[in-house]
Amino acid sequence: MSTNRQWVLSRRPNGAVTVDHFQQKESELAPLVDGQVLVRNRFLSFDPAMRGWITDRKSYLPPVEIGAVMRAGTAGEVVESKHPDFAAGDRVQGMGGWQEFAVIAPGRGMLSKIPDGITMEQSLSVFGITGLTAYVGMLDICQPTEGDVVLVSGAAGATGSVAGQIAKIKGASTVVGIAGGPDKCRWLTEHAHFDAAIDYKAQDVRTQVAQLCETGIDAFFDNVGGATLEAALGNLRRGARIALCGAISGYDVSSPPPGPRNLANLIVQRASMRGFIVLDHLDRATTAIAEMAQWVQAGDIAYRVDVQRGFANIPATFLRLFAGANFGKQLLQLED
Ligand SMILES: NC(=O)c1ccc[n+]([C@@H]2O[C@H](COP(=O)([O-])OP(=O)(O)OC[C@H]3O[C@@H](n4cnc5c(N)ncnc54)[C@H](OP(=O)(O)O)[C@@H]3O)[C@@H](O)[C@H]2O)c1
Repeated sequence: MSTNRQWVLSRRPNGAVTVDHFQQKESELAPLVDGQVLVRNRFLSFDPAMRGWITDRKSYLPPVEIGAVMRAGTAGEVVESKHPDFAAGDRVQGMGGWQEFAVIAPGRGMLSKIPDGITMEQSLSVFGITGLTAYVGMLDICQPTEGDVVLVSGAAGATGSVAGQIAKIKGASTVVGIAGGPDKCRWLTEHAHFDAAIDYKAQDVRTQVAQLCETGIDAFFDNVGGATLEAALGNLRRGARIALCGAISGYDVSSPPPGPRNLANLIVQRASMRGFIVLDHLDRATTAIAEMAQWVQAGDIAYRVDVQRGFANIPATFLRLFAGANFGKQLLQLED
């Protein structure tokens, strides 16, 4: 256990990211110093935001340096601890990165214990960052109420699927999801409580939005940006709220599509549009998990995880996000 296998960023993508932007490496684990915890990573989380972390651009986190272990959320167990709050055997989640073992100083490294009754997969999905993102964005910004018409893009993904179901729980009369492909659309209406789904790969989104949200959109939870955002802005109801959660259509390209041409519709419809970053709301995690656990238990929130396997598959698993190959929260389980 003295050798650690890692994947590091070897060069920055300009356009689509490929497996060649990462390199495998082995390094020796140094003995822990006071305040550190050694964690064996069991599951890695893959998030579209990681595409931004490997771009040398000012953002809410500094870019991953060339040669550094790729930053990623992880779940695993403590192997050794020199920190008073953690002990060997504790199940934990944190930012352990693309490696088998992570040495984390909890104060700075965002390490927390996984509550009893929650699996590692759940701690990285419905009760993790994507679940909290859906919770905060839908409740704080979209603020759905009885009878609302709510539209969600990226709807079959980890964040979007939960966001749409929270709107339904809060009394929205019509929740419409936009997703890629018939399987994802079917899952939305048959399992995830959405009222309707638009397959953006096969249907004209603008026409479908107008038909399915015929009285206008009261709230839009956007994960995609670009043309999808434009289609939604073209069909707002007065006083609409828009949560800008993500804009994945512009992440993995050399230059993102130009912004929506119909922004002025916000003025006409007295609408508001607000971006947010979930990291500003981590203090809400305990409350959110407790409430979401009740919803999951009651069968009001369905969720999926998509678990790939094996250390060698780490970079390829990341690419699945941008091809829409993941069906549910993208995770990878490391071998023993
Ligand atoms: N603001 C925050 O703090 C915060 C936190 C977490 C996540 N997010 C954002 O939330 C969004 C979803 O993240 P997630 O972790 O839940 O991932 P996810 O939705 O589970 O996976 C990404 C999905 O995006 C869709 N996609 C990929 N390329 C696309 C394109 N060009 N056009 C339309 N859809 C595309 C694919 O689904 P289809 O098969 O349907 O195309 C893919 O499965 C991302 O935009 C992410 O940046 C924001």
